Amino acid sequence: MTQHNASGSAADVVDILTTDHKEMMELAGQIKRSSNIEERRDTTETLIAEVMRHAVAEEMYVYPVIEKSIPNGTEEVEHDKQEHDEIVQVMKQLEDCNAADPLFMERVEKLEGLLSHHADDEESEQFPKMRKHISGEQLTELGKRWRRPKMAPTRPHPSAPHSELFHKSVGAGVGMVDRLRDKLNGRQTN
Ligand SMILES: [Fe+2]
Ligand SMILES: [Fe+2]
Repeated sequence: MTQHNASGSAADVVDILTTDHKEMMELAGQIKRSSNIEERRDTTETLIAEVMRHAVAEEMYVYPVIEKSIPNGTEEVEHDKQEHDEIVQVMKQLEDCNAADPLFMERVEKLEGLLSHHADDEESEQFPKMRKHISGEQLTELGKRWRRPKMAPTRPHPSAPHSELFHKSVGAGVGMVDRLRDKLNGRQTN
């Protein structure tokens, strides 16, 4: 099924990335609102899977186009990748932290802050530049490619995040971030 934006036209990659950002922030809010430890951990793992899928797809599909089409694109991409690495570090700290430990929520809040910064940065700086320098046709084409990796598992529930089943197939716990990355990277090359 083709995703559509508010104006009814087919969603391009900028629309999809923006929706992803919203979903991440919603998941982070859900973790903070939950008082059930198990649910907190489960939602955190779903958030981690969602962030990995988003970051890997950005690096594989979007950043090469930014480097090619946007003035100073290479510097922008470098900066973004550094921020992704910071996010990955916090997610790894979360993997081996007990969800009942107060430190867990501290790390969730740290992750939320980094994600919010990531989303603001891209939405206010990068996306307008993408719309300016990359043709609508190419943005729509990128959007189609973007959707492919997250189509893989059938959604268990209409409101469930794309990566919920995916994270369950990869498995939880320590090493999850790296396993997700390997799986996502490998998925594209075959
Ligand atoms: Fe990014
Ligand atoms: Fe992003």
